[in-house]
Amino acid sequence: MQIIRGMKGLRQAVAALGDEGSIALVPTMGALHDGHLALVGEALRRADKVIATIFVNPLQFNDKGDLDRYPRTEEEDAARLEAAGCDLLWIPSAEDFYPDGFGTTVHVGGLTERWEGEHRPGHFDGVTTVVAKLFTGVLPDIAIFGEKDFQQLAIIRRMTADLGMPIEIVGVPTVRAEDGLALSSRNALLSDDERRRARGLHDALASAKRAIEAGGDVAPALDETRAKLEISGFGKVDYVALVDAETLEPVENATGEMRLIAAVFLGKVRLIDNMRVVSDTV
Ligand code: PAF
Repeated sequence: MQIIRGMKGLRQAVAALGDEGSIALVPTMGALHDGHLALVGEALRRADKVIATIFVNPLQFNDKGDLDRYPRTEEEDAARLEAAGCDLLWIPSAEDFYPDGFGTTVHVGGLTERWEGEHRPGHFDGVTTVVAKLFTGVLPDIAIFGEKDFQQLAIIRRMTADLGMPIEIVGVPTVRAEDGLALSSRNALLSDDERRRARGLHDALASAKRAIEAGGDVAPALDETRAKLEISGFGKVDYVALVDAETLEPVENATGEMRLIAAVFLGKVRLIDNMRVVSDTV
């Protein structure tokens, strides 16, 4: 696996992967876990060549402490990507991406307003700006993202469609630990006690999903989820909501394809998760 740092040599390296075959891009912020490797696996199934990127994007951290705490494990990450079958690893730097005078923001309206957008001001502008830059750098045929960041995935789909980028966006289901906790780079920041409690998020969402799919009312199911999270030792709940899977607008009466989404704090660590909910009731 070739590693390119910065912009120098990127175009040649991408071209050397072959003009004929298709290229899949797997953008990451490093601190890789099995969820990221599932993205690489999907990329290998769908394209001839796979390019991964590692860039802890300062623009998408609305909290400086969160950026400073973000785990960085570049050497292990590169070894895991190589072992997984990745062809090229691109590691841009903040100086390359955001030189003095950088003044462009890619903003997606609508979908960014609620949920993560409301609680992390500026976050999604940082995500869409960097993803647009990663897309421009690599010009992939396909780009792969995890469903764990469900709102991010919807926003990236919107941006790609709105800007007419000829890139297929593929979402990959969340990979979970044995106890149900969604894999996330931030899990490494949990203390042992917090890690034991963290499964409560999955368990609370799973029981709300069961209740709603069995025909139960939405509002009491969400109230119960919040109560369960409190009992399991979670702190502030930023949101727990049932939303339409496409528009991400709240759903009061369950119908069609939906997502149960949540963001909660366990100590200082903010965890997000989501689950698919389907109802036949019209
Ligand atoms: O999901 C992530 O890890 C990041 O938001 C992404 C898509 C790599 C952009 O920095």
